[in-house]
Amino acid sequence: MIEANLEELAVSAKARIEAATTVEELEAVRVEVLGRKGALANVSKEMAKMTPEQRATVGKLLNAAKQALESVFDEKKTAFDSAALSARLESEWVDLTAPAPDPARGALHPLTQIQTEIEDLFVSLGFTVLDGPEVESDEHNFDALNIPADHPARDMQDTFWLEGNWLLRTHTSPVQVRGMRKLGPPLRMIAPGRVFRNEEVDASHEHTFYQLEGMMVDKDVSVAHLLYFMKTLLSGIFKRDVMVRLRPGYFPFVEPGFELDIQCLICGGSGCPVCKQSGWVELLPCGLVHPNVLRKSGIDPEEYGGFAFGLGLTRLVMMRYAIDDIRQLQGGDLRFLRQF
Ligand code: PHE
Repeated sequence: MIEANLEELAVSAKARIEAATTVEELEAVRVEVLGRKGALANVSKEMAKMTPEQRATVGKLLNAAKQALESVFDEKKTAFDSAALSARLESEWVDLTAPAPDPARGALHPLTQIQTEIEDLFVSLGFTVLDGPEVESDEHNFDALNIPADHPARDMQDTFWLEGNWLLRTHTSPVQVRGMRKLGPPLRMIAPGRVFRNEEVDASHEHTFYQLEGMMVDKDVSVAHLLYFMKTLLSGIFKRDVMVRLRPGYFPFVEPGFELDIQCLICGGSGCPVCKQSGWVELLPCGLVHPNVLRKSGIDPEEYGGFAFGLGLTRLVMMRYAIDDIRQLQGGDLRFLRQF
């Protein structure tokens, strides 16, 4: 009798173990059948009341059933564990060979890009790149450039005056003075940098902008040299022939002085807001260095001559990228800057 019960118990327990769909369900069956107070444990308790012969047969059957059920249980448990492991691996899987997402990359400001290009160009032509202070003396910014204190040309550039005779440089021309005094003739230098004018800000005027000064001092330097370097500069920047025109221009530190205009690249010369409908854009004031300027920096104008130019870097960037509002350049708006 008890043997038949045991048999039935074993068969149904095996079926339930095999049918379990979750670990919890499986564990519940295990406790119920194989646990300390489970069905098999109950059978073994009853063995106390049996005859030794009965106990021997039942004991054997009980052990066999227990072992069989345990191994079915272990098998099932292993299956559950490995399924859980695969699921976890699947969810944590990382493709180490996949290309990394593109990180947001910074870039050089368009002004810096153009400045670097022009520096490379002039270095290849034998020019030295010089730097000068933004806070300058009256002497460097004006006097040494043939603009004495009472000279009306001082009003040409609205100046931010500081205490004493200091000021924020209104142009990069004081670096000409520093270059001549430091290096002496013959001399080829450029000096890019930030300059300041006490001006009302609007779409085409900033109180802070960039210029690139250039100077060459040597024996027998003529307007032809000046023109050659200016044309090389412009075709280097624009990568094509640009129409230029030379007009007389007045700057106290050059004689003769010129305004070099380029044909507007935005409208091709037909007239637009950027060139104020004239078809031409003033880009490059230049001229032959005034003898007084050479003299004030210890160079004999009888022996040496030179040319100088003051390229408007900010305006050049605006031309190249067709930017119609100067305020965007220093505005720090990333949406603007990310276009370059
Ligand atoms: N320094 C002048 C300016 O800022 C430009 C210039 C430079 C003109 C060199 C002639 C020669 O207006």
